[in-house]
Amino acid sequence: MDSSSFLLYANWKMHKSPKEARDYIRHITQMVDSKDQKRFVFFAPAFTLPALAEESASSSFGWGAQNCYFGVQGAFPGENSPMVLKEMGATHCLVGHSERRKLFFEDEILIRKKVQALLQYSLRPVICVGENAEERKKGLSFKMVEKQLSGILKELVFPDSVCIAYEPVWAIGSAQPARPDQVFEMQKYVKQLCESEGKKLCFLYGGSVNEKNAKELSQVPGVDGFLVGGASLDPQNFFNLYLCVNS
Ligand code: PGA
Repeated sequence: MDSSSFLLYANWKMHKSPKEARDYIRHITQMVDSKDQKRFVFFAPAFTLPALAEESASSSFGWGAQNCYFGVQGAFPGENSPMVLKEMGATHCLVGHSERRKLFFEDEILIRKKVQALLQYSLRPVICVGENAEERKKGLSFKMVEKQLSGILKELVFPDSVCIAYEPVWAIGSAQPARPDQVFEMQKYVKQLCESEGKKLCFLYGGSVNEKNAKELSQVPGVDGFLVGGASLDPQNFFNLYLCVNS
């Protein structure tokens, strides 16, 4: 993909208070050229979203939640509605991040319902998939990703804007990203899987992306962008990563 349209999505996880998010957006707004801001999306914790929304209102940055429920309103205490997200002005939402699958027991059925609800509200789901270390060792990487995606691909009508983020569990927060050839073969597999269901989408890679490896990984054919955790937390680091991709 042309480096001038390469996507940079920041997964802050449970980091950043409203004040910290405001400071961050102020800082990065000054650094990123306005024509490039639409390449960025920031995923913040729920309580931080209103501040993020307000602070990015005069920029072209995208923003969204890291999770939402599939119900729109009702007796779902503690959950967040896709309808409310839309009303707040969000553009995207992460779904099925491996840490949510593991810590909060999210399964494929729940994830599919969330994707469906987001699409109903014209929010762009970023669907996270990826195998763990043991599955890779056993040669089951493709099989696991297919399992995570098959129900979603078969049953849902996708607009072009849906993203799949391939994040091998063993690469997340480990300082050991997937090798470019591993990313290449997975993007090829996922794109074929989608095409066989008549779906078109964008492919992100995530898992220990940083300034040192960003250039090489961004040049893997078929990779449209990154989903970045740790290296997105500091605005200067994230800006440097963007410069690496552009260079
Ligand atoms: P990481 O996290 O960049 O810190 O590895 C990526 C993610 O979990 O989305």
